[in-house]
Formats: sequence, C-alpha cells, structure tokens
Amino acid sequence: MRTGSGQASDPPAAGRQAEPAVSSPFATTGLVAWHRDLAAWLDQLGWLRTLSDWLTAVLVPVRERHQDNLVLELLHGGRWVGHPLHPALSDLPIGLWAGVAVLDATDRDPAPRRGIDAAGVLSAAGILAAGATALTGLNDWIVTNDQDRRVGLFHGLLNTVGLGLQGASLGTRMAGHRNTARALGAASLTVTAAAGYLGGHLVFTKGVMVNRVAWTIGPRRWTRALQEADLPDDSPAAVLAEGRQIMLYRHRGRLYAIDNICSHAGGLLSRGSIADLTVTCPLHGSRFALADGCVRRGPASQPQPVLPTRIRNGWIEVRGSQPAPRRPGNGRTQL
Ligand code: FES
Repeated sequence: MRTGSGQASDPPAAGRQAEPAVSSPFATTGLVAWHRDLAAWLDQLGWLRTLSDWLTAVLVPVRERHQDNLVLELLHGGRWVGHPLHPALSDLPIGLWAGVAVLDATDRDPAPRRGIDAAGVLSAAGILAAGATALTGLNDWIVTNDQDRRVGLFHGLLNTVGLGLQGASLGTRMAGHRNTARALGAASLTVTAAAGYLGGHLVFTKGVMVNRVAWTIGPRRWTRALQEADLPDDSPAAVLAEGRQIMLYRHRGRLYAIDNICSHAGGLLSRGSIADLTVTCPLHGSRFALADGCVRRGPASQPQPVLPTRIRNGWIEVRGSQPAPRRPGNGRTQL
C-alpha cells in the first residue's frame, strides 16, 4: 500500500540500529556510555556548529557544481572501487607514524644527527599519505548530514592537528633535535589515534558511508504494493511492502521497483528526479539505473536493490530480491 509520507526524515528500513536496551547495572555506568556522551557533547559545541554550517554553505554548492567530475567520485571510492576509499587510506598515516614511534622507542644512539633517518622517511611518507587521506575525507564529509557532519568535522580538525604535529616533528628531527621530534611524534600519533576513534564512531555507530540496504531482502512472497490504477506513467510512488520501502515507477507500460532507501545515506529516492530511467537521489545526487539498480553516479558505491514485479487482479505485486550485481553480465536482474 502507498506509504503516504515519503518523508526524508523517515527512519530507513535498514542500516540504522535501535537504541540498545539497558539490561545490566554496567549499562548505566560511564564506562559503557562515554562514547555516546562524547558524540552528544561534541554536537553541542556552538563553535563547531558554526564552523560546520559555514563550511557547508561554502563547499556544498561547489560540489554540486562539479558533481559529474569523475575525480570527485573516485575520491569517494565510488562504483569502481565498490566501497569508500577514505577508511582504507587512513590506515597509511597511522601505520607509518606508528612505525616512527617504534623506531624512536628502540633508537639507543644518543648522538645528535641532522638530516633524515629511517624514522624521518616514515614520518614524511605518513605526511604525504595524510594529505591524500584528508582529500578523500573532506570529499566524504561534504555528503554527510546533521550530527554526523559535526562529529566528522571534529574528526577532521583533530587529524589536522595531528598532521601539524607530525610536520613539526619531522622539521625538528631533520634539524637534529631528536628528543623534541620524538615528543612531537608521540603527540601526533596520540591525536591521530583519537581522530581515528571518532572516525570509527562515524562508521560503526552511525553507519556513515555504510550500505544502507545491505540487509533488505523482503518480502519473501509476492506481495500487493499498490493498485495498478494508482500508478500513472512517469510518476514515482513510494510504497510499503511487508515493511520494506520501495519506489514504483512505470514508463511506457513497463514497471520498475527499486528499494526506496538510497544505499549511500538513506535518502528517499521517490523524492528525487527521474530521467532516462535513472533516478537521482535528492540528498547527495547519487544516480541509479531503474532497470538493474547499478550506480550511474556516486557518492554511492553500492547498487540499489531492484525487485521483480507483476500485476494480479488489478494490483501491482512485488517480491524481494538480493541486491543487484555491480556489473550484470547478461543485463538481467539476478534474484
Ligand atoms: S543519500 Fe546520499 S546520495 Fe542518496
């Protein structure tokens, strides 16, 4: 049946988890709640909100102007990589700078040395990797929303401080001030690790850049979704079938059914525009082919599940399916 609301604020059918029930005395202690409290505290910082709003006002229009730029899409990871690039790249500076800390901790040579040694090479390589990681992170940050955007901004600011400390460490290292370089390097690694923790919070707790339709599989049987007469040609309809949000579309008599929750961040596709049998998500502009759900443009990196349809007794019926293949070999939907 038709949902009627189609609200962008509707909770997505998948990818969001319910608040955990408090079931033990430990659940009320700060030991298990501090990370949620930290995110809530960050969200209350006035200066962070102001900075986030200002950067959003400047950067979002720029991104929208260059939304078809393939380099920007590749910075997300996009359809070619199949998942976001930023989390993978972020391992590089952390790993390289951890190597610096190990070399510093095991260096027993007290003699002052100028120039670059092995730890300095690792430090410099980490700085280069951090630059690339920051670019991909900024690109992902622009397509986040609300609290995630503010926590993401703090994550980025911490990483910037970590990068600055590492740069100062490298400079003092090359000037021969080894002890100062070690202290700065350790501080850099500590700040970067804290930033990494917030990045983990965004992905694992908030589901940022996680496929929002990875678990949607129903309905398991043919299920009535909408009366055929209620679906005019070339006009999308948001429907619910056994709790799953689906967008129906008919063009020249052919029916299309696609998961209504955008795989990128949960936007409602039925609120987007449709042209050439491709729907554009209203939130960040990802495009999906209606026929097979393939990504035609990022930031989404995962295809949109499509559902088989049929008409019985004046009703459009749908049945669940697995997500569409990334590169269908025969052009037909895999069930
Ligand atoms: S929610 Fe981001 S592109 Fe759809």
